[in-house]
Amino acid sequence: MNMNNNVWQGAGRRIHLQEVGTRDGLQAESAFVPTEDKIALVDALSEAGLSKIEVTAFVSPKAIPALRDAEQVLREIRRQPGVVYSALVPNVRGAERAVESRADELNLVMSASESHNQSNLRMTRDTSFAGLAEVTRAVQGTGVAINVSLSCAFGCPMEGDVPVQSVLDWCQRYVQELGAHGVTLCDTTGMAYPTQVTQLTQAFRERWPDTELTLHFHNTRGMGLANVLAAMDAGADRFDASFGGIGGCPYAPGASGNVCTEEIVHALNLMGYNTGVDLTRLLAAASRLPALIGHDVPSQILKAGQRLDLHPMPAALNDS
Ligand code: COA
Ligand code: ZN
Repeated sequence: MNMNNNVWQGAGRRIHLQEVGTRDGLQAESAFVPTEDKIALVDALSEAGLSKIEVTAFVSPKAIPALRDAEQVLREIRRQPGVVYSALVPNVRGAERAVESRADELNLVMSASESHNQSNLRMTRDTSFAGLAEVTRAVQGTGVAINVSLSCAFGCPMEGDVPVQSVLDWCQRYVQELGAHGVTLCDTTGMAYPTQVTQLTQAFRERWPDTELTLHFHNTRGMGLANVLAAMDAGADRFDASFGGIGGCPYAPGASGNVCTEEIVHALNLMGYNTGVDLTRLLAAASRLPALIGHDVPSQILKAGQRLDLHPMPAALNDS
């Protein structure tokens, strides 16, 4: 229940937050977070009320050793009804591992930019698309949902701007040729800015009103929350975010953290939106991260507390 005076602004509109910290976040860390701690973190996030959790990635353990325990994590978490448990997969091998470990959704990934696709996945975009098609055929009939994430949809750190038409053409192929139930437009290295976000979100919503659209922003240049608000105004209602604000693609120069889940929840709750997230529980989960990954995290709310966490008057003033 939102008790603040500005509750009317969001008028209780439902905004879905999808936690990607245990995948996008932990993949970028040099420390290996012990499997039982990963499971405890996912369980805490489930209880905090996130709509979807991207639990892990079924990628090559040589490429991303931090997530080499994907099977065990996905199998041993305590699932909450209504929460969708997703996993990133790069190929058929990954899809088979994820389905066996009872993923609800596979998050397939390719890049809008040829250079980033090559550096991240070591193949051309056309080869990647053929691979995604192979994965969707391989899991047909299993009931597992398919989401496609398009990296660098708002710009590439090696190529610069990516034409809007090219992004929409890829989306068209995911929806029509792959039958994807969802598409995620990813701002892999924080190049998106609000007016650009408005344009792409509107264009997507107009063409595919029935496809689940997620926006995935990184806060690399401080525009994360502004981009979320711009996307909401343009009709988006689903966002990826990382608790603690951790994250970043290891194959994208200059990448840094996702938009921070607790910062987005804190802002949206104040504005009267219904995120369904219990901020206190979310903060408790995020506060465990520095000890587990061995360094401080970007989250401003962990540092500053919530807006109305008041402080005592300075003792010197009380004494005088
Ligand atoms: N699960 C487990 N192992 C996998 C795998 C998967 N999904 N896909 C490939 N492998 C293994 C292969 O068995 C092979 O192992 P080996 O060297 O012991 O024989 C090794 O990885 C290389 O496989 P290959 O088919 O030659 O693929 P590649 O080297 O071209 O790797 C990727 C392609 C994309 C699968 C790999 O680079 C990867 O997983 N990258 C991670 C991408 C990522 O997560 N990026 C950040 C998120 S966007
Ligand atoms: Zn990302």
